Amino acid sequence: MEKSYKRHLITAALPYANGSVHIGHLAGVYVPADIYVRYLRLKGEEVLFVCGSDEHGVPITFKAKDLGCSPQEIVDKYHSIIKDSFNRFGISFSIYSRTSSKIHHQTAAEFFKKLYQDGKFIEQESEQYYDPSAKVFLADRYIMGTCPKCGNEKAYGDQCEKCGSTLSPDELIDPHSRLSGEKPVKKMTKHWYLPLDKYEGWLKEWIIDGHKEWKTNVYGQCKSWIDGGLRPRAVTRDLDWGVPVPLEEAQGKVLYVWFDAPIGYISNTKELLPNDWEKWWKSPDTRMIHFIGKDNIVFHCIVFPSMLKAYGDGFILPENVPANEFLNLEGDKISTSRNWAIWLEEYLEQFPGQQDVMRYVLCANAPETKDNDFTWKDFQARNNSELVAIYGNFVNRALVLTNKYFGGKVPGYAPEQLTEDDKKLIAAIPEITKNLQDCLDHFKFRDAVKEAMNLARLGNKYLTDTEPWKVFKTDPQRVAVILNLCLQICANLSIAFEPFCPFSSKKLQAMLNLSPKKDDICPVSAPEGKIRWDMLGRTDFLKEGDQIGTAELLFSKIEDETIQVQTDRLARIKKENQEKEKAEQAKQVQPQKPECTFEEFEKMDIRTATVLEAEAVPKTDKLLKLTIDTGIDKRVIVSGIAEYYKPEDMLGRQICILANLKPRKIRGIESQGMILMAKDSSGKMRFITPEEVMVNGAAIG
Ligand code: MF3
Ligand code: ZN
Repeated sequence: MEKSYKRHLITAALPYANGSVHIGHLAGVYVPADIYVRYLRLKGEEVLFVCGSDEHGVPITFKAKDLGCSPQEIVDKYHSIIKDSFNRFGISFSIYSRTSSKIHHQTAAEFFKKLYQDGKFIEQESEQYYDPSAKVFLADRYIMGTCPKCGNEKAYGDQCEKCGSTLSPDELIDPHSRLSGEKPVKKMTKHWYLPLDKYEGWLKEWIIDGHKEWKTNVYGQCKSWIDGGLRPRAVTRDLDWGVPVPLEEAQGKVLYVWFDAPIGYISNTKELLPNDWEKWWKSPDTRMIHFIGKDNIVFHCIVFPSMLKAYGDGFILPENVPANEFLNLEGDKISTSRNWAIWLEEYLEQFPGQQDVMRYVLCANAPETKDNDFTWKDFQARNNSELVAIYGNFVNRALVLTNKYFGGKVPGYAPEQLTEDDKKLIAAIPEITKNLQDCLDHFKFRDAVKEAMNLARLGNKYLTDTEPWKVFKTDPQRVAVILNLCLQICANLSIAFEPFCPFSSKKLQAMLNLSPKKDDICPVSAPEGKIRWDMLGRTDFLKEGDQIGTAELLFSKIEDETIQVQTDRLARIKKENQEKEKAEQAKQVQPQKPECTFEEFEKMDIRTATVLEAEAVPKTDKLLKLTIDTGIDKRVIVSGIAEYYKPEDMLGRQICILANLKPRKIRGIESQGMILMAKDSSGKMRFITPEEVMVNGAAIG
């Protein structure tokens, strides 16, 4: 038996305020959360939708350091960008606040204090890396050195981003502090730990036995964490950015960001409802759901619940945590540092007024059970052949025809006028809407949005099959039936699509004169207005004689050129990244080769020479055929430099060659020698030329 609840507390992961948000964030967390919240509100449920910026953590301090400003300036900037993007995408938070707020600092500090006083922590001194000249303890990320696995000189103390290995600072070769460049030393420091091992038995019972209905990806991760054995986790850090640890003896220490951030859900609720917040957090009648991405599972299913459990005092636990997998972009992992992303503010600028299209595509293609790929081609196809060709087209035809034949008044009919096909249609509508609801109840938003589109498909097909434009002359009464039913489907669509595409639903409700909800973003209670979820499936809520408005297009076609602009942009970014990577590689100076003797060196005949003729080798991109004057003779050398030099760049240039290299055939041309080249800092090959022009054939040694 499912428990019935009085209210729903829906949280969406607090994004870090050290960068903008992109479509991956939207698809994984905020669109699904918003769909669910809008659905609950339409059902008349009491809902609180809480989010805000996560403004602490080491990366924010780095960004500030890189840009030469304070962490506060960084979070101020991104908090407002993120908040604005969400708002424009219609993500209907009850509150979007931030963890640098006073109320959050107070709440998080108080939370820590109570656990401390109740003896819920263990205190432990341990050796940690310390930067003696900057006089600070170094988080693993603050330490850099050479990766023992791949030789990358820029590996971090926790991870090598080049080969992906997880590291500890002890493993780094030649470790140094990112702050001062100095070699870190080890120093004792004290920290407070939440002994998760003590919660193992309880977590087993609560999740492994009690929440078998959670999504398999979520349940599986929890199970493997718990089965693997939990260990105490430090909840404090030596850092100067965050919520100060509220203890005399903890000067210079802050709460670990993953300790304070989830408490942000509580502080933000308090901020919105200072007198009423407790019923949302401490009543068994409240149902709490966390919407997150897969990298947040352990924190929301194991750590935060253990914190709440340790605190006691009636705090509720999440009833479900429908975490999503990741969204990729055109086959590659979304990456902020490589700018491989579609940023919300950029999209809003380039596709003004088309928020619903992105919401629809991200939902239809959501990474619910596995990582998924966003492609611009798919985006275009879903817009053009689904939103425009089915939903938009159907609504438009129904409204235009009603205006044309009935002066915009909903035509009526008598029950006996219904044909067998009409009756089938009337019966099919609640079937679809029931499926839709079922999917939404189980967080299956991909399937849900398909059902909504199926409803539009049903209407579109019915209208096409019945051809009222051919029938009107001879049988206007028949057309009245057809258009009445079509308009009822339009009204259904305006409700069914509201969670997914709220902007166009609002527009459609206005066209149908179904007064749209007064307030789209209402803090707590259900929206007012005529539209309710429980009207779905009915074919009688537009009444005969109701006046409708004129038809406006809900969606418009997206042309190939528009998509080309976007794919060109991505291609440009990809190329820039490849070049940067090459340059990075070139910067890494190769280690010295093993010793050689003077005699070995003397074997090599290195000389000056001048290029007399140069041409590209046909059917290759890389090769030039050079005829050179070596002072001894004229000869041909084939060289792989066409990427870096055009034939005319080489004409008349003096170069250095290895003259006595054994000749070999390259693409059928005999190459007699080799040009001496070196890679410049951007990864380009450059030839070596004497300081001033010399005779050809001068021996180098
Ligand atoms: N900022 C974290 C992230 O982006 C999420 C924090 S969720 C919270 O991965 F619960 F801790 F707030
Ligand atoms: Zn490595």
